[in-house]
Amino acid sequence: MAQHKPKPTENSPAARFGEFFRAEHREIRDALLALLAAFEARNRRRAKTLLGTIGGLCGPHFRYEEEALYPALVEIFGKLYIEHLLLEHDRAIISAFRLMKLAEKKPFEAADARLAVRIVRSVLPHVSDCEGLSIMVEVLPETVVQEIVEARERARKDDLDLVDWATEVRKRPFLLTYQRELRAALRQHSDV
Ligand SMILES: [Fe+2]
Ligand SMILES: [Fe+2]
Repeated sequence: MAQHKPKPTENSPAARFGEFFRAEHREIRDALLALLAAFEARNRRRAKTLLGTIGGLCGPHFRYEEEALYPALVEIFGKLYIEHLLLEHDRAIISAFRLMKLAEKKPFEAADARLAVRIVRSVLPHVSDCEGLSIMVEVLPETVVQEIVEARERARKDDLDLVDWATEVRKRPFLLTYQRELRAALRQHSDV
């Protein structure tokens, strides 16, 4: 069971984890907010660039969360909440495909921009929800935190973007409804 420590000491694995975890969420947050602005301005070129940036940031981040962080938190939250976090990843991956497709659309109408903005907004809460997990990481045993840190290093070394990781490495089956949505999004994406 988790050790109950009120505050991680400086340089402890939990303190280091908290620092890089927050820095990564800040980068993802800023890129998503910039994407929101790009879609609002109907700037497809900027949206496409930002989608590439976001895919690069989220690939390794989602990967170590799913391979090490989320499983380590089951003992605290229970399986149901962890399933919710994984579902949010499913949704974010599908949203990325849908946004890539939308960013290719010509002409890019006001209705497309509104839809894109809605999709970007739908993934934003996961960024802040996920950031909040670090308060729980503080009570995990140091060895477990160290394993999360190592999983992060491996994911960053592989450096697969979100699409490559989600389609080639990620083993989690999408729920049936999402599976259909994902296939449709992938099909649309390859039609572009
Ligand atoms: Fe996260
Ligand atoms: Fe996450």
